[in-house]
Amino acid sequence: MDPRTNPYSPGAGNPPPELVGRDELIEKVSVELDRCRNGLSHRSFLMVGLRGVGKTVLLNRLATDAEVNHFAVVSIETPEKRSLPALLAPPLRSTLLKLDSLAAKSDRVKKTLKVLGSFIGAMKLKYNDIEFGIDLGEEPGMADSGDLENDLLELFVQIGLVAQERKTAFVLFIDEIQYIKEEEFAALIMALHKCTQRQLPVMVVGAGLPQLVGQAGEAKSYAERLFQYPAIGPLDKDAAQKALMLPALEKGVEYTKEALNEILLQTKGYPYFLQEWGKHSWQCAQASPISEADAKRASTIAISELDGSFFRVRFDRLNPSEKKYLRAMSELGDGPHRSGDIAHLLKKQVQSVAPTRASLIKKGMIYSPDHGDNSFTVPLFEGYMKRVMPKFEK
Ligand SMILES: Nc1ncnc2c1ncn2[C@@H]1O[C@H](COP(=O)(O)OP(=O)(O)O)[C@@H](O)[C@H]1O
Ligand SMILES: [Mg+2]
Repeated sequence: MDPRTNPYSPGAGNPPPELVGRDELIEKVSVELDRCRNGLSHRSFLMVGLRGVGKTVLLNRLATDAEVNHFAVVSIETPEKRSLPALLAPPLRSTLLKLDSLAAKSDRVKKTLKVLGSFIGAMKLKYNDIEFGIDLGEEPGMADSGDLENDLLELFVQIGLVAQERKTAFVLFIDEIQYIKEEEFAALIMALHKCTQRQLPVMVVGAGLPQLVGQAGEAKSYAERLFQYPAIGPLDKDAAQKALMLPALEKGVEYTKEALNEILLQTKGYPYFLQEWGKHSWQCAQASPISEADAKRASTIAISELDGSFFRVRFDRLNPSEKKYLRAMSELGDGPHRSGDIAHLLKKQVQSVAPTRASLIKKGMIYSPDHGDNSFTVPLFEGYMKRVMPKFEK
């Protein structure tokens, strides 16, 4: 069918034509945000899930909704190599300026901009990735000690006071939070904790890979009580069907039941794969309804495309022992797998492959759903490992 009107939208962070299956969580976040703004008890969120389940698009949607509802929003993504202060400083400034222009000029906002200036000044000495050309002035004795935990806390408290004065809440959205360095995560958690204790309207809504839960606990033991950790998973059958059908229906195109079944079987309801399969099914079909044969052809094309791109870029980042480790995991079939079983298959001691396991976790290829267990973070990667390394060798 016409590629010009193909509605599907595969790709990292690409908003789907229809964001299905997340209404409950969207409502839950909205309730907590309103409670936070109203000075009531609330808990922040760290949403966890594998790659391609839709964390980024959900986070963006939540941030947009919050902005529309007049929350003071800052959105950042933690890339592997930048410090939290470097990421935070520029959007914090814009958000503060926006708060200032909302109503009559506020002395508190002016003071907080200066506290931000102090913070930037102190952090510049510590983190050389802060590029900030604008001079905000300084507030001596506030957020200028050079100790991240202390300074971030003082900065957040000031921002909380501004938000309170402006009858709103400050909400920090952070994507890919598993890449944050432990000391920075600890400082963030502590700053949030302080605001919570002082009943200031400050909230964090983060998203990241599943190892995030353990990282938060390691950074600060009380993190558990500060956050709720909604799991973002594959879509259930009903939602997955809607993700495929609704965008097509809008263009007068339908699917046969068998076509839907084939796609659900292949994609296991993973949102990114649903978009890929939807796109290819549309391309393969001559006319509505999209048939099982169209869906099957789409499967062949989608898998070979994923092998050449999505899976391939991840595979190329691995060293030989990491590849062997993952190949052993896929040899064991559907996960999760015990570290001991993987080592056994590799004819190695658990301790001797522990560094390989650790680096795979660090690279975000595998995670530990339970102590000593291992699963792929990328859905369907298991099958790919078998295709790319057909023979298992110890
Ligand atoms: N709820 C959803 N319904 C339908 N498609 C979705 C949904 N969430 C995400 N997608 C699609 O899945 C893909 C991956 O989304 P993304 O947010 O980048 O995932 P993640 O951040 O978890 O890796 C995108 O193509 C997006 O359009
Ligand atoms: Mg993402």
